[in-house]
Amino acid sequence: MRLKHCHNFHDFRKLAKRRLPSPIFNYIDGAADDEVTYRRNTESFETCDLVPNVLTGVEDIDMSVTVMGQKLDMPIYCSPTALQRLFHHDGERAVAAAAAKYGTMFGVSSLGTVSLAEIRKKHNNPQVYQFYYHKDRGLNRAMMESAKEAGVEIMMLTVDSITGGNRERDLRTGFSIPFRLTISGMLQFAIKPMWGINYVTHAKFSLPQLDQHVYMSDGPLSIGRYFTEMLDPSMTWYDVAEMVKQWDGQFCLKGIMSVEDARKAVDIGCTGIILSNHGGRQLDGSRSPFDQLAEIVDAVGDKIDVIMDSGVQRGTHVLKALSLGAKAVGGGRFYLYPLAAAGQPGVERALELMRTEIERGMRLMGCKSVNDLSSSNLRFR
Ligand code: GLV
Repeated sequence: MRLKHCHNFHDFRKLAKRRLPSPIFNYIDGAADDEVTYRRNTESFETCDLVPNVLTGVEDIDMSVTVMGQKLDMPIYCSPTALQRLFHHDGERAVAAAAAKYGTMFGVSSLGTVSLAEIRKKHNNPQVYQFYYHKDRGLNRAMMESAKEAGVEIMMLTVDSITGGNRERDLRTGFSIPFRLTISGMLQFAIKPMWGINYVTHAKFSLPQLDQHVYMSDGPLSIGRYFTEMLDPSMTWYDVAEMVKQWDGQFCLKGIMSVEDARKAVDIGCTGIILSNHGGRQLDGSRSPFDQLAEIVDAVGDKIDVIMDSGVQRGTHVLKALSLGAKAVGGGRFYLYPLAAAGQPGVERALELMRTEIERGMRLMGCKSVNDLSSSNLRFR
């Protein structure tokens, strides 16, 4: 299968599976425990149906949205994710360039593999910083200051990953950074030599947001160890309120799932919340963001920008979320499989397919702009 034969999420996933050594593929593809939440995230979009209006004159479609003060040409953005240069040697560089071409937002993670300042200099589209809160408060302050200096527009604090999720696929393969593979994990690398050749012939893998602070040659800093040893489980609303003050700009919380927490985010001055369960990778059995969207928008939608991610695979999923009042929608795997499959052209193709699906969906729904979408366009079964 080639890139031009990829027409949807499932095709990209197949191609990525073919190209990546299985420990890496399974790191992207896997989720926590029994992966119930991972499956539910996408299934939840099927609990309701779209109700179109016809004959509304839909020649010109405007799918742009404004979210946390940023204008996006399309309502889906590339959620920040960790370790992108492991999936393709261009990593965040490829994603940022593709997102810039489509006028949408992207992000670099604390666990990103390219420096956020380098990327900020290259492109003008809005950039978020996916921030993890470390035990070392000095490190937190220094990381925020360098992001501010670099001109990153949005601070996105991840609040659903205060400890590592139980990713059993990673335990089986021995996936960690640097690699400490099981014998069967090593064999999986041996049968995908192209990935290995690319890996060793391109710039050395690093975590520039953290590498002055994390000593990695002493043993593997597994993602699990990073979460359990470096992140601060004592973080409270009080600490976040301090961060919001220090940042003094667009600040959102990624991983809010209850109405009560959404209200607290408003109270401490956040400008956005992202309903998310981290793509099912953290608390298995937790509710899907789409299932929680209506009641949270109802409670705080007039005071803060409500966004959602997790499980989004289709343009119609985006339209359903917008109909319930989401200001924009984020996605991870929808661009990560294409990145792994083909680098920047892969991410561009994923964004192009999404753009086309959203445009076609809006026409068929009778909506010229996203403001025309409302809950009257949806019926739950
Ligand atoms: C990191 O954010 C992960 O989900 O592995």
